[in-house]
Amino acid sequence: MTSNILLIIMKKMLMINGSPRRNGSSSAILKAIEEKCSPKGYECEKIDLGDLEIMHCKGCMYCKKNGKCVTDDDMTPLYGKLQDADAVVLAVPVYFGAETGLFKNFIDRLYALVDNKDGVRTVRSGKPKKGVIAINCGAPDGNMTYHGMMTHLFTVLKSFGVTDVSSGIIPKASPDTVKDSQFLNDLLASVDFQFSS
Ligand SMILES: Cc1cc2nc3c(=O)[nH]c(=O)nc-3n(C[C@H](O)[C@H](O)[C@H](O)COP(=O)(O)O)c2cc1C
Repeated sequence: MTSNILLIIMKKMLMINGSPRRNGSSSAILKAIEEKCSPKGYECEKIDLGDLEIMHCKGCMYCKKNGKCVTDDDMTPLYGKLQDADAVVLAVPVYFGAETGLFKNFIDRLYALVDNKDGVRTVRSGKPKKGVIAINCGAPDGNMTYHGMMTHLFTVLKSFGVTDVSSGIIPKASPDTVKDSQFLNDLLASVDFQFSS
């Protein structure tokens, strides 16, 4: 008797919802990206930052001496999840021209993964990763306005060792209609190509 065993190794995609709204536009965007990537072998885990208590970075530099953050809160399990992920997706709404405060807290706390020895900066990012950045906003011309924010988020992912990134700014976003946005569909086309290999 022969038995054929098909072994499928799933890859891990960590999806960060940077909105305090659990079912807002950022969430709908993450769902659309998940629908694109699940069939390509990605197991997607969504983290709703709004459900978590993540304290701001204290700037105490404890992490530089001890290799971990001094604050033990809902950020603690995220370090391991981030290091373990094969792909990281950031969905972030624009608040007054920048990311939400809760998303900024999350980003600043990543400093605990940064080592600085003899002036050389390295990041304990686990394994090589792909990345996706989806900014969304209310302004109809937001796709023309918020490139500075995108540059900033590129820097964040780059310092985390991510170099293969798809990105898009989705203007005039609303939870019910964002799935029909041409800007989201352009991003999904890019994601489709990026995650095909
Ligand atoms: C406090 C606050 C500030 C905002 N500031 C901006 C802004 O500066 N520019 C903009 O285009 N939209 C702004 N918006 C609109 C949100 O970016 C937009 O509704 C976004 O799609 C919300 O995403 P969410 O549904 O995932 O929360 C703001 C919304 C809030 C609540």
